[in-house]
Amino acid sequence: MSEPYAARTHDKMREVLMDPDAPGPAVHYHMVRGGPLKSNITIWEPGQVGGEYIKAYGHYHVDDLPETYRILQGEGILLTQLRSGSDGEISEFKAFKVKAGDVVDIPLRSGHTLVNTGKTWLVTSDDSPWSPEDSASMPQHADYEPMKKLRGMAYYVVEKDGAPALVRNPNYSSAPTAAIEVAESPSNG
Ligand SMILES: [Fe+2]
Repeated sequence: MSEPYAARTHDKMREVLMDPDAPGPAVHYHMVRGGPLKSNITIWEPGQVGGEYIKAYGHYHVDDLPETYRILQGEGILLTQLRSGSDGEISEFKAFKVKAGDVVDIPLRSGHTLVNTGKTWLVTSDDSPWSPEDSASMPQHADYEPMKKLRGMAYYVVEKDGAPALVRNPNYSSAPTAAIEVAESPSNG
C-alpha cells in the first residue's frame, strides 16, 4: 500500500553527520511524497546536531534525472558537488543560500543536499519520482551510498559566531576551496 509520509530519523542521519554521537531530534526531516504528479513536500527541523545545521541525507542521482526544488518557507543552504574519478575526489563544490520564493535546479549528476540554517521549518516542494509501493524507503532514482561511505558531502555546514560556515569533511581525499555564496542560487527562477 502506498503511504505518502516518510521520516528521516536521527538514527539514520547518524550515518552522514559530522558528529554521529551528538544528540539530535528524533526526526530530522519529514517527507510527504506525491511524485511528479502531486509533488513531494519536505520539511526540515530547525536547529543543529553537534554544531552542524540539520540537513537532508544527500545523494547522487543514478542517471541524468533533472530535479527542481521550490523553497516554500524558511531559509537554507543548497550544497552541490561533482565527482572526478572516485567518490572521494570532488572537482567542483558549491554552497548557495536559498530562501522562500527561490526555485533551484539541481545540476545534473551532482551530489546534493539542503541544509536548514533558519529558525523556522524549512519547507520545499520538488518533482522527483518515487516508489509508490514503498514511499518510506530511500527513492530508487538516487544513490545514497557515496554519502554513507564518506559520511556526508565534502563540506559540513556548521554554526560559527552565529552564522553558517563550511567545514571540510576529512573523509574526502580532495575538494576545492569553497565558500557560502550569498548571490543567486544555480538556477534562480
Ligand atoms: Fe535529488
